[in-house]
Amino acid sequence: MLVTAGPTREELDPVRFISNRSSGKMGYAVASSALARGHEVRLVSGPVKLTAPSGVHTVGVITAGEMKRAVHDNIEWCDVLVMAAAVSDWRPGMVSGTKLKKDSAPLTLALEPTEDILKSVAQLKGNRVYIGFAAETEDLIENGTAKLKEKNLDLIAVNNVLADDSGFECDTNRVILISAARTEELPLMPKREVADRIIEWAERSLS
Ligand code: CTP
Repeated sequence: MLVTAGPTREELDPVRFISNRSSGKMGYAVASSALARGHEVRLVSGPVKLTAPSGVHTVGVITAGEMKRAVHDNIEWCDVLVMAAAVSDWRPGMVSGTKLKKDSAPLTLALEPTEDILKSVAQLKGNRVYIGFAAETEDLIENGTAKLKEKNLDLIAVNNVLADDSGFECDTNRVILISAARTEELPLMPKREVADRIIEWAERSLS
């Protein structure tokens, strides 16, 4: 199983970057769950403060571009891809090799889009199971269902990232699992239990 986790970081100058609040806890829980259930696991991780479970082959990346490359390098190997990473959607259009000085303020940042990793591997899906996450603040089921289709996924776990007890940085999560067949709202539970539900779902769809 190939799992991605954590944020990506897009450099602006040698001391600054843009990123997001992802802690990597959900993706690391998915990797641990898959390992505990006897699967071979490769983890592509953005910069996080977590230690990968021993036995998981981990590839550390920083940027969305590096994460995309690592996913492409490992996609043929896997039966299941779980994209739990919060990939940066934009990167600064210009990266300064030297520290930007504040006397250049006010500063306007021009951002360019990064590539969508899931869309970039859509053609390579074959019989693989693809699972994604959706970070949403409104219209959870509608937005999650749209991403399920647009990104050619078998399952999507939708998070309300505005809630205090779920989403970014928490140890618990409340997700809605959406597949073509059904929509299931799970109660609040530890991220590890959410991970177990996702891996069980993947196992059932492989068998
Ligand atoms: N994702 C990806 N590549 C990106 C951005 C997101 O593969 N450049 C993946 C995430 O890992 C996740 C899914 O797409 O599994 C949905 O990510 P999310 O951030 O919820 O949505 P976006 O596609 O970025 O759309 P938006 O930010 O407009 O909601």
